[in-house]
Amino acid sequence: MKAKTERTAMWKFTLFGVLAWMGVLVAPEPAQAEYADVVMNNYADAAGMRPVVFPHWYHRIRFRCKVCHADLGFKFKAGGNKITMAKIIDGKFCGACHNGEVSWSVENCGLCHSGIPGTPTHISGSTVQRLVAPAYKILDKKKTVQDGYNK
Ligand code: HEC
Ligand code: HEC
Ligand code: HEC
Repeated sequence: MKAKTERTAMWKFTLFGVLAWMGVLVAPEPAQAEYADVVMNNYADAAGMRPVVFPHWYHRIRFRCKVCHADLGFKFKAGGNKITMAKIIDGKFCGACHNGEVSWSVENCGLCHSGIPGTPTHISGSTVQRLVAPAYKILDKKKTVQDGYNK
């Protein structure tokens, strides 16, 4: 009788272990901020350009973290690098690669400046598709006039 109870207890324990292990396999991965898109809008809106959408994961699968965050000096902070076009054209930040050699060059304004006007600097868990406006459209005319979008 005692042996049977022990065996039952053992089975329950094993079953629990197996389920817990499977649970680990099927549990959804928590969202990783560093893999999401970064919207950069320190200066773009004010200068009459759409905010920049930087697809982090798209770059991450091509380069190691070190390439950008150590060698090119990108600080780990959305909007924390004070990037300007002068620096990019000078070969810094995005310009280290978007120079027509490693990747397409800086004339392709719209490929980087693809965010919806007015989107603040932030890191977003969404895909590029959700941030990129399908076509230019004034969403709130009063607001955009004030902010100077239709100059
Ligand atoms: C091609 C360049 C590039 C690569 C490769 C890259 N990053 Fe980034 N990362 C960036 C840029 C650009 C930003 C945004 C900086 C800004 O807005 O000024 C950023 C931002 C971040 C942030 C800050 C997010 C926040 O909450 O503000 C973290 C954390 C981060 N990266 C981690 C990583 C890790 C970990 C890897 C490797 C697995 C990696 N990055 C690979 C370019 C890169
Ligand atoms: C270490 C090199 C490197 C750096 C730094 C870099 N890029 Fe890229 N980027 C690439 C490469 C490579 C591609 C892929 C296109 C290609 O093969 O030419 C790419 C593609 C892109 C794309 C197109 C994504 C798509 O869905 O087609 C965008 C947008 C982009 N980069 C923006 C930026 C911005 C903004 C920065 C600076 C914040 C930046 N990149 C910095 C190398 C880089
Ligand atoms: C490889 C990506 C990339 C391309 C291509 C690009 N930009 Fe930018 N641009 C940036 C980033 C990143 C910033 C900083 C965004 C911010 O924080 O406001 C920026 C900022 C700006 C600014 C405001 C800051 C400043 O330097 O005056 C202007 C204006 C601008 N871009 C114009 C342009 C024009 C015009 C083109 C095409 C000839 C262009 N950009 C192409 C990435 C790019």
